[in-house]
Amino acid sequence: MSKDVKIAIIGCGTIANSAHIPAYLKAPGVEIKYFCDIIPERADAAVEKYGCGTAVYDYHEILNDPELDAVSVCTHNDFHSIISIDFMRAGKDVLCEKPAARILSEALEMQRVAHETGAILNIGVCNRFGTQVNQVKKMIDDGELGEVYHVYASFRAYRSIPGIGGDFTRKASAGGGALIDWGVHYIDLILYCCGEPKPITASGEAFCKLGKNIKDYVYTSMWAEETKEEDGVYDVDDSVVGLVRTDGPVISFNGAWAQNINQKETYIDFIGTKGGIRLQYCGDFVYYGVKNGMLTETATSYRKNNFYEEEVLSFVDCIKNRTHNQAYIDYAVETSRILQAIYDSSEQHREIVIER
Ligand SMILES: NC(=O)c1ccc[n+]([C@@H]2O[C@H](COP(=O)([O-])OP(=O)(O)OC[C@H]3O[C@@H](n4cnc5c(N)ncnc54)[C@H](O)[C@@H]3O)[C@@H](O)[C@H]2O)c1
Repeated sequence: MSKDVKIAIIGCGTIANSAHIPAYLKAPGVEIKYFCDIIPERADAAVEKYGCGTAVYDYHEILNDPELDAVSVCTHNDFHSIISIDFMRAGKDVLCEKPAARILSEALEMQRVAHETGAILNIGVCNRFGTQVNQVKKMIDDGELGEVYHVYASFRAYRSIPGIGGDFTRKASAGGGALIDWGVHYIDLILYCCGEPKPITASGEAFCKLGKNIKDYVYTSMWAEETKEEDGVYDVDDSVVGLVRTDGPVISFNGAWAQNINQKETYIDFIGTKGGIRLQYCGDFVYYGVKNGMLTETATSYRKNNFYEEEVLSFVDCIKNRTHNQAYIDYAVETSRILQAIYDSSEQHREIVIER
């Protein structure tokens, strides 16, 4: 492909402006042709701010533009599957934000259409492009931890529910709460580092407790506060615990947007027979080992790369060379299986066997 790759941004909100658009603007041989948002001012503002592209307010208008190669789907979760599928069927490649979809059946349909059409369908699993994560993966691959038999993730905030009452806390829009919004990153990262083990069973409880009374919810800070709706809907998990058996390590986790425990924890413990690693989410890690009969602790410090940029550059590379990378839908679907099984387990209060 010698011409520029022409991209449309679908949904010009936070993640589009903070990650996708700057990355495409930096990528050589890429042109953003359209900024699309159902809120016209957002599409117009992007054209104005970035000095390129045309504003559109309905993505159907550009589906059949023969010049358009690919899209970034940066809308809320409820539109991920429908927009991705429409563009794939129109012959375009897609980078869709995480989670792949609200429920497993939507993610499986996206995968089916990707296979059927041959479109590249990547999911925004940005951690797979981070320096530290790839270093941990390499150490596990190289056997430095021995057999990794248990991985524990803690993604806990004190009292921090994003945009309470708005899109984030409506099941119909988001598919779930802390698990699907934050947990998705941790589970994906674990599967990646551990060589994509297949989930077998899952057991969990997802609690919808602290945010239910929106008006009385007490908090110190809140992400996406501008989307808060006092008369909105709150029907998702504000905390979650789970245990997943895979054909590799057991995965367990404690996650919370909000818990009445003043601890903010965002780390993953990879526990192996020869050594262990505590990886701070989006941060550095410590390797615990044994050497010459002594216990060792090796702290690492890395210059952090911009994983969003790497994710977008790699997507462009996939488009040009018709290859798949580590963000391909086939990997994300396994995470969707786990999320669905945990929510099903919570609803049915029993362990779920993950069928395939
Ligand atoms: N990878 C990450 O680290 C990361 C971080 C933040 C958000 N996200 C994901 O990105 C997605 C968007 O989150 P956000 O915080 O940017 O939300 P946002 O509300 O800031 O932006 C979403 C935009 O999509 C627009 N939109 C909705 N439906 C549309 C449609 N049918 N056509 C065109 N535009 C439409 C909205 O008007 C809004 O401007 C979510 O799925 C979220 O999970 C990922």
